[in-house]
Amino acid sequence: MENTYQILKDVNLATRTTFGVPAQAARLVEVDSVAVLQEIIKSGESIQLILGGGSNLLFTSNLTGLVLQNKILGREILEEQGDDVLIQFGGGENWHETVGWTLDQNLFGLENLSLIPGTVGAAPIQNIGAYGVELMDRFEFLTAIELSSGKSFTFNRDACNFAYRYSIFKGPAKGRFFITSVTLRLSRKAELNLDYGALKTILANKNIRDPKPKDVSEAVIEIRQQKLPDPKMLGNAGSFFKNPIIPLAQFSRLKQLYPDVPSYPAGVGEVKVPAGWLIEKAGWKGKRIGNTGCHVDQALVLVNYGNATGREIAAHAERVIHSVKKTFGINLEKEVNVWGTPD
Ligand code: FAD
Ligand code: EPU
Repeated sequence: MENTYQILKDVNLATRTTFGVPAQAARLVEVDSVAVLQEIIKSGESIQLILGGGSNLLFTSNLTGLVLQNKILGREILEEQGDDVLIQFGGGENWHETVGWTLDQNLFGLENLSLIPGTVGAAPIQNIGAYGVELMDRFEFLTAIELSSGKSFTFNRDACNFAYRYSIFKGPAKGRFFITSVTLRLSRKAELNLDYGALKTILANKNIRDPKPKDVSEAVIEIRQQKLPDPKMLGNAGSFFKNPIIPLAQFSRLKQLYPDVPSYPAGVGEVKVPAGWLIEKAGWKGKRIGNTGCHVDQALVLVNYGNATGREIAAHAERVIHSVKKTFGINLEKEVNVWGTPD
């Protein structure tokens, strides 16, 4: 039987990722339904990578195998219980457009997560978070197809094992599943989270005393546009590293040396320290090396000044890790998924 899907050959991945570094996929299928996905799995061809919006990926070499890009669309209300509404979204939906759509429908809970690039299907993978809210706060369940068997699985919140920038899909289940849909529990009643200091400041500056979810979304968008480079202008994948969580005793020693070190609570006996601050203090903010470097306004964001290769950026990341380790004795872990072999 003829394939019902098209296999694209020698596909330029630079335009399908926000870093925009040169890389090619030998074969790529834009998967727009679960049926197509099942057909590909049945064909027995091994799948090298699942691609969403390419906003958390760095390629350091070409991909010789099959890449599947998630283009499964759709929105469906599954259930309404009081103020709660359960909505299922196709994994290939754009995240930011989804947030905008929910606000237009007067469905609340995602406003703090405005303007995060990428797809809905990738959002659970690192439990995306910003401005005091994480995906897990609104997550109900996801559906995923196991690549080795084609079987369909449902993962509820507990099964995903969410934590800060982590889920089972970054751990033991890494690379095993294609997330086809995500179901979120949203609310018709606005319960705003304004814990993040800059949000309160921006709303106060605008004289907004009784903010609505759309005001919060607009404030988040404004802060993000001030702080983070637009990938359309300057290639990047957001924060390149996670904010490290260190023991309280180590933090106390750091605070003695640097009384201005910012920090956030991170569970019993631990403290989260902003990696951007550590990288800036280690001297890397705004420093350019060849075609890459740490952004001038946000040291945690590694950028492609135009002609960088993935290897160059990956090498810079290693430089930064080494320097922060040497200066503070703290290990930085990559948030971005690096594919291929760095030099
Ligand atoms: P991709 O980059 O395409 O993929 C990421 C990983 O998930 C890869 O390992 C891929 O194989 C896997 N994957 C993708 N889709 C699927 C699927 N359907 N099934 C199984 N595996 C899959 N993140 C935050 O948490 N908070 C932020 O505030 C934030 N700000 C950002 C700002 C900028 C400017 C940029 C460029 C990035 C930012 N990010 C942020 C990171 C990024 O937007 C998120 O990680 C996003 O969820 C990635 O989605 P994606 O579709 O682009 O995934
Ligand atoms: N800071 C510096 N120098 C810098 C950058 C930051 O000193 O160059 C300091 C800031 O002054 C502030 C602190 O570090 O005191 C934290 O900075 P910011 O509020 O900008 O947030 P972040 O910790 O750098 C995290 C997430 C972002 C998310 C924002 C907002 C991680 C790894 N990053 O950044 O997520 O949007 O908070 O909630 O947790 C992403 O994951 O890609 C991402 C962009």
